Amino acid sequence: MSLNPRIDSFAGRRVWVIGASYGIGAEIARELLARGARVALSARKRDLLAQVAGDAHDALIAELDITDRESIGRAARAIEARWGGYDLALIVAGTHLAMRAQTWDLASAKQLLDVNLIGVLNCLDAIIPTLLQQRSGGVGIVSSMAGYFGLPKSLIYGASKAALINLAESLYGDLHPDGISVYLINPGFVDTPLTQKNDFSMPALMTADAAARATLDGIAAGRFEIHYPKRFTAWFKLLRMLPYRLQFAAVRRVTGL
Ligand SMILES: NC(=O)c1ccc[n+]([C@@H]2O[C@H](COP(=O)([O-])OP(=O)(O)OC[C@H]3O[C@@H](n4cnc5c(N)ncnc54)[C@H](OP(=O)(O)O)[C@@H]3O)[C@@H](O)[C@H]2O)c1
Repeated sequence: MSLNPRIDSFAGRRVWVIGASYGIGAEIARELLARGARVALSARKRDLLAQVAGDAHDALIAELDITDRESIGRAARAIEARWGGYDLALIVAGTHLAMRAQTWDLASAKQLLDVNLIGVLNCLDAIIPTLLQQRSGGVGIVSSMAGYFGLPKSLIYGASKAALINLAESLYGDLHPDGISVYLINPGFVDTPLTQKNDFSMPALMTADAAARATLDGIAAGRFEIHYPKRFTAWFKLLRMLPYRLQFAAVRRVTGL
């Protein structure tokens, strides 16, 4: 049985995509427009948001920086003034920085957490009161399979994503009884500007448009956790259940790190 209500069609749904200027979020916005949704596109780069929106009449651009609460408030007010609320907010924005204990850098660690964790909280600060007031709609948070357990080169990124997994689980418990859907999206490797910096081979790499379709299909099916590609993430889920001795050995064997 699905943990959230199913969505038969996105046509006419009002969806706010935060992190929609490129990468997975841009493809989600494009796919939503193709499925007939009304889409508010947010991120910092207005020109790229406009390119993603194209000439869609149902698109609205609400520029923001998720590390800046005031800019999120302005964007939220603009969307609510235009639409009177929204049916779904997807927090996709995030960043990545490879770090190991040997390259420890506190300033970079704090910067990453400021975007990937505090930035999401800043967005929720605007979204939760609106959803509670509406007593309808939903919120989705993009975490990562890197949040399942500690991986090499993922020292702070993994910690930020583990926090989001825990956050989404608690949010579900709090908001579901009030009729609000919560989605946790855990992608594997997706080909975007974020991963194009990686210097290692990425198993089961997906295209961003396939990731967008998998995200929206999972939401439409009413899933709580949406993870993909399953042939990769299923292994991670299995590995997560193993005793640490076996888990550490398997990670070392696969990554060589
Ligand atoms: N790609 C993967 O393999 C993968 C795997 C697992 C999880 N994820 C997660 O999926 C999400 C999207 O990843 P992606 O690969 O699509 O990344 P990406 O290609 O780097 O795109 C990141 C998006 O986030 C926006 N963004 C970044 N910092 C922002 C800020 N301070 N304020 C507002 N928007 C901001 C960017 O727009 P602006 O620069 O215009 O602001 C852009 O739209 C991230 O949370 C990432 O951690 C990705």
